[in-house]
Amino acid sequence: MCSLLVNDLGLMKVDVKDVETVTVLGAGHMGLGIAQVIAMSGYRVNLMDLSREILDRNIGRIRYILTRYAEKGEFPRDKIEPTIGRIKPFTDLRESVRNSQYVIETVPEDLSLKKRVFKEVEKLVPEDVIISTNTSALPITEIQEGMEKPQKVVGTHFFNPPQRIKLVEIVYGAKTSDETVNFTLELMKRMDRDPVVCKKDVPGFLANRTVIVMLNFVSWLVSEGIFTPAEIDSAFHYKLGQPMGTFGLNDFLGLKTTYQVQKFMAQREPTFKVPPIWENLVKAGHNGVDTGKGFYEYPDKVWRKPQSWSEKIADKYDTTWSLLVGINRMAQIVNDGVATVEEVDKAVKIGYLMPVGLLELADQMGIDNVVERLEELKKRFGKIDNLSHILEPNPLLREKIKKGELGLKAKKGFYKY
Ligand SMILES: NC(=O)c1ccc[n+]([C@@H]2O[C@H](COP(=O)([O-])OP(=O)(O)OC[C@H]3O[C@@H](n4cnc5c(N)ncnc54)[C@H](O)[C@@H]3O)[C@@H](O)[C@H]2O)c1
Repeated sequence: MCSLLVNDLGLMKVDVKDVETVTVLGAGHMGLGIAQVIAMSGYRVNLMDLSREILDRNIGRIRYILTRYAEKGEFPRDKIEPTIGRIKPFTDLRESVRNSQYVIETVPEDLSLKKRVFKEVEKLVPEDVIISTNTSALPITEIQEGMEKPQKVVGTHFFNPPQRIKLVEIVYGAKTSDETVNFTLELMKRMDRDPVVCKKDVPGFLANRTVIVMLNFVSWLVSEGIFTPAEIDSAFHYKLGQPMGTFGLNDFLGLKTTYQVQKFMAQREPTFKVPPIWENLVKAGHNGVDTGKGFYEYPDKVWRKPQSWSEKIADKYDTTWSLLVGINRMAQIVNDGVATVEEVDKAVKIGYLMPVGLLELADQMGIDNVVERLEELKKRFGKIDNLSHILEPNPLLREKIKKGELGLKAKKGFYKY
């Protein structure tokens, strides 16, 4: 049984140690993955969706995934059914949050839907139960608007697939309390997650905020006809060992979602603009592999390495340029007080499987060298629409140079050596 404690103000209080059951609202792509990892860590899950059919199908999918793990020796076979047994399906919202000590919302990315769900849930749960959202791009602060207990609302941004990527960005909305964040942080650790805290409700949070700008940069270069997707992807594939390159990976994931994230970012950040190539592809109904066309063509709707890639053209694009763009964005994140150096590096390493954090890389390259190269890039590409903003070295980088904190060679940069 969950014990409720009474705090100084006389309010009922749930302690993180007392959490036994978590409600997950939405059993779609992310909801099922989140339910699976929570159940694997020993918690009970109330999984809610609109129909029994969706729930049965997706709980069946969890069973299939766990069986595959067992076949590969990654999960004990005798634990499959007990794990599934901890996941209870619900189609009734009220029932799904009854006896639950934490709620994670993972319904589709639609602000009015999410706001409606949050307002309904807040009426149904005890005073102290935290409600988190898995949104990738919507402002937590807007979800909090009009709520009676906005301090109990927080972002828990799980990465796709949650079964393989343990990163969860815990995101403050303008009214989220420290208590809510600390509780969530502790709960995520208990669920075998690797959480980072995003202190401000900025578009894209930490990892996507960095990577989307890197994508935006190369997309503008393609949009302007300076490079082809194949030239850029060949460089990423043959020089950095990325199996799908950048544009190939986006085709595989589906263009619509990333396009939406870019649109949301552009709405909230006037210096950020969606490149015409993305607008054109998505508006023409091309979503990548599943529609047969994206940045490349897929006649049989299966991802294969495009024939246009080759080692010969891999030298045309310098992949360091993308890394410089990422370093600059991360410097901005730190300078704006959104996250610490360690957390933002951790976010890209775990969330995007980067072998080294970009700020660690900046220290290795030398921060003076980073600024010099960004200035060169700005001279070369700064005339293209919004690229001058992306390429303008962040003031934190210049400040570090002034202080002599040049990185590894000076024994101090973003890190101390
Ligand atoms: N897909 C990703 O890669 C990814 C990654 C990180 C975060 N997210 C975020 O996670 C959220 C869910 O994305 P998804 O890809 O799982 O979407 P999805 O469409 O696969 O799943 C959403 C599920 O919610 C259900 N649903 C709709 N209205 C509901 C309601 N009122 N109550 C309960 N369930 C309801 C739908 O039936 C569906 O099963 C979005 O906010 C998205 O931005 C997605």
